[in-house]
Amino acid sequence: MTILGIETSCDETAIAVLDIADDQTITVRSNIISSQVHLHAEFGGVVPSLAAREHAKNINRVLEAALKEAGVLDIEKEVDLIAVTYGPGLGPALIVGIAFAKSLAMLHDKPLVGVDHMRGHIYSNWLNKSFDRKSVKFPILNLLVSGGHTELILMTDYEEFKLIGETQDDAVGEAFDKVARLLGLGYPGGPLISKLAEQGNLERFPLPSPMINSKNFDFSYSGLKTAALYLLRDLKATNIELDDQIKADIAASFQHAALEVLIQKTIRAAQEYNAQAIFLSGGVSANSLLRKKLHAAATELGIPYSQPDLAYTGDNAAMIALAGYFAYQKNSATAQWQTLDMKPNLGFN
Ligand code: KG4
Ligand code: ZN
Repeated sequence: MTILGIETSCDETAIAVLDIADDQTITVRSNIISSQVHLHAEFGGVVPSLAAREHAKNINRVLEAALKEAGVLDIEKEVDLIAVTYGPGLGPALIVGIAFAKSLAMLHDKPLVGVDHMRGHIYSNWLNKSFDRKSVKFPILNLLVSGGHTELILMTDYEEFKLIGETQDDAVGEAFDKVARLLGLGYPGGPLISKLAEQGNLERFPLPSPMINSKNFDFSYSGLKTAALYLLRDLKATNIELDDQIKADIAASFQHAALEVLIQKTIRAAQEYNAQAIFLSGGVSANSLLRKKLHAAATELGIPYSQPDLAYTGDNAAMIALAGYFAYQKNSATAQWQTLDMKPNLGFN
């Protein structure tokens, strides 16, 4: 089966062509990503109207590049299914991808399936070259961390997801972005903070890990961000110059506090729900310290662990094509362009 995946939920215009062979082998034939992140950087976050305009401007070029790289000459003859992100995300951005996908599905008479972007992130683990699909055992505990989400999701089977914990306020990626802005680092903040933290001493300015001792599996990041804000304010009040070393020390302390609660709660939830594996995913799964620490913690617990290859941690359409395949396997009857609508607030329950 050949699937064309389309993603426009945030600030990446992405289109991919994916093959699933009869023996279930997954081949990513093309995975084109046109990022607008530099355009939003000067505003310190994604501007919906600008995102929508850029998607509309670029999507045709991205399709042409994805088809060319995959060697697809004729969508009608060579593509079996079209999959498009229908939520969660920014309405004006989602609608561009959906309209484009509907037009293709109508033109070429193809089934069209709406894909949950967050399920896409979870399925990005299946795209790893070394991933052995036959050895997958459920339930899998997923730590899903991105710019808009911080969630623990128990996956009991393909297409069976249960939310067991989530952030009560800011998402962890959002906290990285906000603290990066306080430190004057730029956007997106996650990669910049983690790079700076490598030179820092995390013990110099200890910051709190909110909710780390709470019995539930929820998270909170607004208090940590405020603690970083007050720390900076107090340092400025003492007329200490905020040099690169102080910034690196704060970055290291913030990163430690932000990740520690993720790791501890993931391990506790894995034990409580008798998870057969722990999977990491979402944009923040690019964080090298998180990858290293969660892997080590899962290994210590004796539970198989998976994280997406770095090529698939951020938003991409290969994961959307794959999630579309699983959604279509579960329910092909509703995969019609006529009835698909966006769901900006789509979530797990
Ligand atoms: O999944 P994603 O690309 O977009 C959303 O669906 O939100 O995630 C983007 C988020 C941003 O907040 C970004 O700062 C964060 O992922 N991020 C990181 C790292 N790389 C990206 N956070 C921490 N460390 C990183 N290395
Ligand atoms: Zn995402």
